[in-house]
Amino acid sequence: MPTDWEANYQRNETPWEKGAPSPGLVDFLRTEPVRGRVLVPGCGFGHDARALAATADEVVGIDIAPSAVKGARAFPNVGGERYEAADLFALPPRLRGCFDWVWEHTCFCAIDPAMREAYVAAVAGALRPGGHLLAVFYLDPGHDHPDEGPPFGVSQAELDAFFSPRFTLLREWLPQKAYPGREGREWMRVLRLS
Ligand SMILES: C[S@@+](CC[C@H](N)C(=O)[O-])C[C@H]1O[C@@H](n2cnc3c(N)ncnc32)[C@H](O)[C@@H]1O
Repeated sequence: MPTDWEANYQRNETPWEKGAPSPGLVDFLRTEPVRGRVLVPGCGFGHDARALAATADEVVGIDIAPSAVKGARAFPNVGGERYEAADLFALPPRLRGCFDWVWEHTCFCAIDPAMREAYVAAVAGALRPGGHLLAVFYLDPGHDHPDEGPPFGVSQAELDAFFSPRFTLLREWLPQKAYPGREGREWMRVLRLS
């Protein structure tokens, strides 16, 4: 059964909501500030978008759940970030082909695994030519059974298979910082649109 994200937010059932940006992202930004225009798909309450807005010119956080967008907008702006209710798989034309970066964090693992090729196509479609995907992938959420629903784990080999037709892998590493309980379960990558 597809996840009803809006219902989860309305019921306050948001176990992914940590009240702080991804520690791996914060660590990355400390030495490599991200510039230009950034898209954050599945932005939730926008903690990552605000961390990125400290260095980027413009950050657009999108989420399919209007309540997530409302929650993100409730925080004070730190820079050029804004939030929209939008479906990554049906991006409006003004959000296509224009981003220097896409930041991935717990969107890829949240969608139905059958939609992974569509995810790669959507991210590629949002980026300008030569744009980059910076990602922290949730490799191992600690359960594997597909019926258990999101987050859905992924292997590095699967990431290679899904992304290599459209992206060149530039770097990958085990993040040294993670939310409590996610240590050793995540994997970061920088990929360039081929
Ligand atoms: C597991 S939550 C993670 C939220 C946020 N990245 C975080 O870590 O706090 C996944 C988010 O993706 C959003 N989402 C799911 N499918 C989406 C889609 N097709 N387009 C945009 N957002 C989507 C959900 O509403 C939810 O806010």
